[in-house]
Amino acid sequence: MSMQHNSPYIVIEGLDGAGGTTQCRLLQSWLEQRGCTVVLTNEPTNLPVGKFIRQVLQDPDSLIGDAVLSYLFGADRQNHLDTRVFPALDRGEIVISDRYYHSSLAYQSLSLDFDFVAKINGQFPAPSITFFLMLEPEISFERVQLRGLPVERFETLDRLRSIAQSYERVIQYCTEQGENIVCIDATQTIDEIHDTICQHVEPMLTQ
Ligand code: TYD
Repeated sequence: MSMQHNSPYIVIEGLDGAGGTTQCRLLQSWLEQRGCTVVLTNEPTNLPVGKFIRQVLQDPDSLIGDAVLSYLFGADRQNHLDTRVFPALDRGEIVISDRYYHSSLAYQSLSLDFDFVAKINGQFPAPSITFFLMLEPEISFERVQLRGLPVERFETLDRLRSIAQSYERVIQYCTEQGENIVCIDATQTIDEIHDTICQHVEPMLTQ
């Protein structure tokens, strides 16, 4: 499904530790310096369902199974679009989202049928552009450990390896769906990655 708005909806995706959050913030400042109004947002959100998802991710004994979690991510996403993304795009603002349905396709399809996850996410509009920050799972794991934060459900090396493979599949799938996708080597410096992102976003501003 394509976006009904003229304003750009930009998504940054990638493994934990790939630097997505940093790049979202840098892109926001860069756009603001150019006089754009930007809404920076992320999934899972801090809306009610998103908060609940974070609790589930940190609870190894959670009674919420993977299929239910997949629906919860979908519910959070709909809530996110309705309350934040669409209103901002309607106002002519640029939206940058740290993760979107590509994360569901990559993470939830590890334990669930890919088509099941794709179906839950099938009605969400495609972003104007999606940047995938590509990183070796070993490097991702090191970076996540360095953060020293509690390890979530997805953050063991074996899982990161599977997620990295899963992202490859998502990129192929979304490319086949005609999405506008840019893959970036996330072992480059923060500035190099930022420059590449800006080069792709700049032409969207003059449209
Ligand atoms: P993350 O962006 O890492 O949030 P934070 O840095 O604030 O903790 O997202 C939390 C985890 O949720 C991350 O490991 C990816 C996972 N996730 C999914 O499994 N499915 C999804 O649809 C989304 C949006 C995230």
